[in-house]
Parts: sequence; C-alpha cells; structure tokens
Amino acid sequence: MPVDYSQCGHRGSRHESSVKTSSLATFCSAAFRSPKTVGAVWPSSPRLAARLAAVVPSVGDPTIVELGPGTGAVSAAIEERLQGRGRHIALESDPSMAHFLHRKNPRAKVHLADAVDLGSILARERLADVDAVVSGLPWALISADKQKRILGQIAHSLAPSGVFTTFAYVHGLGLTAARHFGQSLRSAFDEVLSTRTVWVNFPPAITYVCRRPRRAASIEISA
Ligand SMILES: C[S@@+](CC[C@H](N)C(=O)[O-])C[C@H]1O[C@@H](n2cnc3c(N)ncnc32)[C@H](O)[C@@H]1O
Repeated sequence: MPVDYSQCGHRGSRHESSVKTSSLATFCSAAFRSPKTVGAVWPSSPRLAARLAAVVPSVGDPTIVELGPGTGAVSAAIEERLQGRGRHIALESDPSMAHFLHRKNPRAKVHLADAVDLGSILARERLADVDAVVSGLPWALISADKQKRILGQIAHSLAPSGVFTTFAYVHGLGLTAARHFGQSLRSAFDEVLSTRTVWVNFPPAITYVCRRPRRAASIEISA
C-alpha cells in the first residue's frame, strides 16, 4: 500500500531539524544501495530538468504527474513552471528519496509508490485527464512487461491533449532494450518526438515528447 506522505503529519518544524542530509547525499546513497532501481549515479542537471518540465502548461491549473522524482531535480523545474498553480503528484518507490522529497518540496504530493500503481492512486485522488506526465524512471532497468503496464497506465491517465515526456541516456540508445522501448512508446502514443542531446548532463541524455495517447490500444513490445 503506497504511503501518501501528505497524510502522515510529519512535515513541520518538529522534523525540520532532522532534514540535514543534502539532496546529493540522499541520491548517491540510494543509488549505491539500489543501483538497479535508481539507474543513475547523479541527479539530472538543471538543463535536462528544464527540458523535461517544458511540457508543463504555462497557463491554467494543470495536473502534473511525476514518476521517479528521486530527490527532486526535475520536481524543482516542474514547480518553477507551475508557479503555485495546479497540482503536482509524485510517485517514488525509494523510501529515503520519497521522504526527502516530501520535506524538500511541500507543494508536491509525494506517494511512496510504484509507477505501476498510477491508475489506482489517481482514482483515489479523484483525478482524471492529467495534463502532463514527466518521467525520470530508469526504463532500461524495468522489464518489458512492466514497461508495458506503466505506459498503459500513463496513456489511460492523460487527457487526450496531455503530454508524456521522459529521458534516455545517449550511451544506451543503440541497445536492443532501448529500441524496444521506442517501439513501446510508439504503440502507446500517436506522436513520439525525440529532442537534441542535452550534453550538460551526466551522462548526456535525450528526451522523448509523446502526444495523443492511444488510450484504448494495447501496447506491443517485442521480446
Ligand atoms: C534515474 S533516477 C531519476 C531521479 C530524478 N528524476 C532525476 O532526474 O534526477 C530514477 C528514479 O526512479 C525511481 N524509480 C525506479 N523505479 C521506479 C518505479 N517502478 N516506480 C517509481 N519510482 C521508481 C528511482 O528510485 C529513482 O529515484
């Protein structure tokens, strides 16, 4: 059962003094502990974060879902775009990073949860027709079957005009798994665009921007 941190009542001055660990230390220790879940050795750079957050509408009160926020490198860019508008729901599966993000970014509603539970979390929150899903998930480390289930949940959660964005490290783009992921994206979305490389990131990365979710379609993944 995912923990909704906003219901725990442990945010506030009583706990502020215990939040001494830096974002980087929290990220690196989680990456060291669980390399196959975190899938990165360093948080995203501000430039990559801004590129991902560019899909957040600059007007209105949008609902934004972030998957795999880690310690909040991209969350900060999302909040910068939101400027206090709308809602920001974040699903993070690592307890230490979810806890850290909850304290660092009080505007985001952080769920200690697996991205595969997106649909049930949004149903509980009574949210539908999400405006944008921004992912930091390490797709290369997620099984093809689970990728399919997560992408299905994303496509079903988005409004018809909604946008999904995610990133991939350039050094892995030639791998079979990356090609299969590209196919999966095209099964889930009518339009999939990749952007130029963000060199100011460790490692350099591209982003995918996906529009027109195929809500009813099943997602094909080659084995
Ligand atoms: C590559 S890191 C990205 C962190 C952050 N978004 C950034 O760009 O710096 C991947 C993050 O996704 C989280 N994660 C991995 N699998 C997940 C899953 N199935 N559901 C939710 N979060 C997941 C990891 O714990 C980690 O925080």
